[in-house]
Amino acid sequence: MKSITKSFFTVGLVFLELLVVADINFSFCNGSSHVGCVQSERKALLSFKQGLSYDPSNRLASWGGDGDCCRWAGVVCDNFTGHVIQLRLRNPHLEYFTDYEEEPYASSATIVAVYEAYERSMLGGKINPSLLDLKHLIYLDLSGNHFDGHDIPEFLGSIENLRYLNLSNAGFSGMIPQQLGNLSSLQNLDLNFEFQSSNDITVLHVENLFWLSGLSLLEHLDLSGVNLSKASDHWLPMTNTLSSLKVLQLSKCKLDQYHSLPLPMVNFSSSLTTLDLSDNRFSNHLILSWICDLSHLVFLNLGRNRFRGSIPVGLQNLTSLKHLDLTMNYFNSSIPKWLYGFSHLEYLSLRQNYLQGRISSGIGNLTSLERLDLSFNDQLVGSIPRSFGRLCNLRSISLSGIELSQEMCEILDIFSRCISNNLESLYIGGSQISGQFTDQLGKFKNLHTFYASENSISGPMPSSLGELSSLKFLIISSNKLNGTLSEIHFANITRLLVFDASENPLALTVSLDWIPRFQLAYLNLRSCNLGYRFPLWLQTQKFLEYIDISNSGISDNIPNPFWNILSRTYQLNLSCNNMYGPIPELTNASTLFVLDLSSNNFSGPLPLLHSNVSTVNFSNNTFSGSISQFLCYKTRESKKTEVLKLRFNSLAEELPDCWMNWPSLIILDLGNNKFTGSLPTSIGTLMMLESLRLRKNHFFGTIPVALNNCTELRVLDVSGNELVGIIPSWMGERFSSRMIILNLRSNKFHGFLPLELCRLASLQILDLADNNLFGVLPRCIKKHKCHGDNNISCEQRCMV
Ligand SMILES: *[C@@H]1O[C@H](CO)[C@@H](O)[C@H](O)[C@H]1NC(C)=O
Ligand SMILES: *[C@@H]1O[C@H](CO)[C@@H](O)[C@H](O)[C@H]1NC(C)=O
Ligand SMILES: *[C@@H]1O[C@H](CO)[C@@H](O)[C@H](O)[C@H]1NC(C)=O
Ligand SMILES: *[C@@H]1O[C@H](CO)[C@@H](O)[C@H](O)[C@H]1NC(C)=O
Ligand SMILES: *[C@@H]1O[C@H](CO)[C@@H](O)[C@H](O)[C@H]1NC(C)=O
Ligand SMILES: *[C@@H]1O[C@H](CO)[C@@H](O)[C@H](O)[C@H]1NC(C)=O
Ligand SMILES: *[C@@H]1O[C@H](CO)[C@@H](O)[C@H](O)[C@H]1NC(C)=O
Ligand SMILES: *[C@@H]1O[C@H](CO)[C@@H](O)[C@H](O)[C@H]1NC(C)=O
Ligand SMILES: *[C@@H]1O[C@H](CO)[C@@H](O)[C@H](O)[C@H]1NC(C)=O
Ligand SMILES: *[C@@H]1O[C@H](CO)[C@@H](O)[C@H](O)[C@H]1NC(C)=O
Ligand SMILES: *[C@@H]1O[C@H](CO)[C@@H](O)[C@H](O)[C@H]1NC(C)=O
Ligand SMILES: *[C@@H]1O[C@H](CO)[C@@H](O)[C@H](O)[C@H]1NC(C)=O
Repeated sequence: MKSITKSFFTVGLVFLELLVVADINFSFCNGSSHVGCVQSERKALLSFKQGLSYDPSNRLASWGGDGDCCRWAGVVCDNFTGHVIQLRLRNPHLEYFTDYEEEPYASSATIVAVYEAYERSMLGGKINPSLLDLKHLIYLDLSGNHFDGHDIPEFLGSIENLRYLNLSNAGFSGMIPQQLGNLSSLQNLDLNFEFQSSNDITVLHVENLFWLSGLSLLEHLDLSGVNLSKASDHWLPMTNTLSSLKVLQLSKCKLDQYHSLPLPMVNFSSSLTTLDLSDNRFSNHLILSWICDLSHLVFLNLGRNRFRGSIPVGLQNLTSLKHLDLTMNYFNSSIPKWLYGFSHLEYLSLRQNYLQGRISSGIGNLTSLERLDLSFNDQLVGSIPRSFGRLCNLRSISLSGIELSQEMCEILDIFSRCISNNLESLYIGGSQISGQFTDQLGKFKNLHTFYASENSISGPMPSSLGELSSLKFLIISSNKLNGTLSEIHFANITRLLVFDASENPLALTVSLDWIPRFQLAYLNLRSCNLGYRFPLWLQTQKFLEYIDISNSGISDNIPNPFWNILSRTYQLNLSCNNMYGPIPELTNASTLFVLDLSSNNFSGPLPLLHSNVSTVNFSNNTFSGSISQFLCYKTRESKKTEVLKLRFNSLAEELPDCWMNWPSLIILDLGNNKFTGSLPTSIGTLMMLESLRLRKNHFFGTIPVALNNCTELRVLDVSGNELVGIIPSWMGERFSSRMIILNLRSNKFHGFLPLELCRLASLQILDLADNNLFGVLPRCIKKHKCHGDNNISCEQRCMV
């Protein structure tokens, strides 16, 4: 989830046009025979609405006028008395909270759009105490909204008939009011704030949990993501008083330790079916021994804690378990035999532990399994046993990062007994798989995610690949696949979103007029062989967000229509081909974040870019002419570009004085061009600049004093120009002590070396050769700089 949020911030702002205006229209009162709503309750609802200041998608449009309030969106009345008994105002766009398993590929506009839809469906503002006038309210769901960081109102504790209260991820903050302990009829209390908390910031906390004792009828308690650290020595005794409890969810609650001893006898051992204590950094096995008595547990999540040693044998009594999650602990035993006796198990994750030994043939007894994740236990070795083939209900298998050392054909053979019928996702990346694919691949008709990168799979892709009609994610990068992919390999693939076959000696040969039946979001064919013609089929892909066809043997002009498919693209990499011709203006490509056209044969003037582009690499082409228009275009619009690499081109003329438009630059490389003239003062406005390379041009004049503003510089290379003057002492005074390369070689500098250079304590390369400098080297340089840990001898590098 973290990475999704991150990518949202990275690309979010540029996808505003994708806003999905939610059109929610759901009513829970249709077709009932109620008597109409009660006036006082109608007023209460209207006051409630008035308290809300945020409803951008107008979810409460139906709330108003003279109409029957029982017909308003989210309002449920008793059919006979007409009293409002339920308020169901949950945010309907909760897809945002689902996990995206395909995380590395999900940094996409799709997710941003989902998030935007979620955000636009929020209600926000204040909760009006008028709710207290709904005397018969038993059900209140405000989850997924955003109440602006207000405290959870204490008065909610006075809605005395409430049986269901759901405020999960509703944007509250502060302390959970103890008044909630007055809700003696409450059966469901959901204050899950997992998605609005992070490891560093929890928005909700408690002083204690003693108030829970008032909730004797509670069946479902979820406080995940709430900071319970102040209750860490009594959360267990307190929840233990809840003798009807069926579901207890305390994930991410900062319950590092359980202190008080001895452990109480558990009262809810016969009722509790669901327990989630994940992500709490528990290490104390006493907790585990308590859990072992919960013999009716069906769901147990102990993932993301710090349990170590063997998987505790006490768990073997929990034979009713359907869901067992021990992800991300430090368990280092072998997979215990008794686990293979859990015949009800549908979900098993032992991902990211230190498990040892082999996967035994006993695993074939877990015939109810639907999801199995053993990935990233790098000491688990040996092949998938044949008995695995009996697990006919499997829908998801993750065996990435395990040393399987097995042939692909054998794996397909085991899976094709019956697993192939239901399997939806298969992750076997980095699992030391060799051998070749066989035609059995075509049996996996329901497969939507196939992840097999970083293995040694060789040979051609079978044409039966084209039968995988459910495929959305196909990731087979970094293998030894060869042969040719052609239209037949994609014949019935209509839903493909992500295709990554990069780093394989694989050829893709399709006819020039091929129109794929899919629309990709992510395409990576880096270092494949695409043939010398530009792949025209790319022009049929209108939703590409990521394109990498670098180093793929293309030696062609780019047809103009290609540039029109970039409306959602945030990364475009065409580097290391032999493409040629001019590049048109790309000022409309507002989503573009990374643009790499380096090491081709592109020519003409530099194309104008949209100011959002962050990384630009045009190096090693034959772009020519002045860069004045490129730099000074839209002077008032400051560029967000952080990296600009233009080296090894034929760019010429003077640098214009427009650098103030590029305040975000961190890396600027103009080396090996034909620039001339003096360095403009506006270079001094580049306050973020860490690397400035201007080598091998025809710059003349002195180094402008303004450069002393660039105090973040760590690399300055002006070698091979015609710069004159003395070496200014401010270089030692103003440049950061983190500076590592200062290269002034082959210019016309004269005079003494200023002693101040001694302050550049991290300098690794100081190259002053081939100038008119004289005098002796300051001692500090002789001693510390020239004989440093660089391999360059002092004599060569520091000739004065
Ligand atoms: C009211 O009646 C309708 C059908 O007439 C029924 O579907 C609904 O569940 C009833 N609502 C309540 C709260 O009893
Ligand atoms: C509370 O609402 C969330 C959605 O916002 C839902 O996932 C959760 O199951 C609800 N909790 C209960 C106890 O029904
Ligand atoms: C509600 O709870 C608070 C604090 O726990 C308590 O002081 C108050 O008397 C209770 N109110 C009612 C009406 O029970
Ligand atoms: C949780 O609460 C404790 C005690 O109030 C506090 O020290 C800690 O910083 C909080 N942690 C987070 C992540 O908010
Ligand atoms: C178990 O519940 C009973 C009544 O429900 C209560 O008297 C007893 O104190 C509880 N035990 C513990 C350890 O909380
Ligand atoms: C497993 O971890 C425990 C405790 O961290 C350690 O004492 C033990 O030697 C480890 N066992 C193996 C087989 O690595
Ligand atoms: C498992 O349960 C049996 C009784 O059902 C009990 O005798 C045994 O001690 C339990 N084992 C563990 C490891 O808790
Ligand atoms: C698997 O099931 C077979 C037959 O039902 C049984 O004999 C065997 O002991 C079981 N193996 C494990 C490890 O539970
Ligand atoms: C594609 O699907 C059609 C209809 O389902 C089927 O007739 C055809 O054989 C399939 N082709 C391939 C290559 O799988
Ligand atoms: C593919 O690689 C195999 C060795 O892994 C080799 O024998 C075969 O000739 C290669 N085929 C092609 C078409 O390059
Ligand atoms: C420049 O690009 C060509 C291909 O156009 C490539 O062969 C060469 O290695 C590149 N040079 C550098 C220094 O990157
Ligand atoms: C140097 O930086 C200051 C702000 O720290 C700025 O006001 C000034 O214009 C800069 N000088 C030049 C020459 O860019």
